[in-house]
Amino acid sequence: MARHLAGTNRRDRAFNRQEHLCPRTAISGLVCTTFLVLLGFPAVPQEPAGKGADTESGQQTFNNACRTCHTTKEGDNRLGPNLHNIIGRKAGSLQNYGYSSAMKGADFVWDKEKLDRFIAKPDEVVPGNNMKPYGGLTPAEDRAKVIVFLESPTTN
Ligand code: HEC
Repeated sequence: MARHLAGTNRRDRAFNRQEHLCPRTAISGLVCTTFLVLLGFPAVPQEPAGKGADTESGQQTFNNACRTCHTTKEGDNRLGPNLHNIIGRKAGSLQNYGYSSAMKGADFVWDKEKLDRFIAKPDEVVPGNNMKPYGGLTPAEDRAKVIVFLESPTTN
């Protein structure tokens, strides 16, 4: 009887030692650290590393928000007019595109500031324009990206 109890105690002690060497918190701490490292590292190469990267991420945003209706190729109009060389181009001025009378009559040249406001809320810049259905690109960061893309040499 006493021997049996002693045996049990030895096993318990061994078990407790194991718990002590490898406590639960240390394991989850390690898992957590590994996870954070995995999360953190891939972000580094994705940081904009110069003009090329900015243009690329701008192109992605353009593809998501504008490409359904616009290309940046000269002469290639879709539902919307092409945006080739749009910065510095007079609003509503392409000969081979059927603008709304609001856009045709808009009397200004597209610059970065006008574009930024227009793609946020088209009707505030050209009331009655026909850029629809378009919900507006709310994040300022996304608008800035699209503009970097539109003024990049790839589109001009
Ligand atoms: C649902 C289709 C659609 C989407 C999406 C769209 N547009 Fe347009 N866009 C149009 C149409 C249609 C016009 C012509 C509007 C008019 O004549 O009133 C236009 C006109 C424009 C013009 C004026 C061009 C000129 O020649 O004066 C600019 C600049 C423009 N869009 C930029 C953008 C940008 C940048 C995006 C993405 C952030 C975008 N648009 C998304 C359909 C769209």
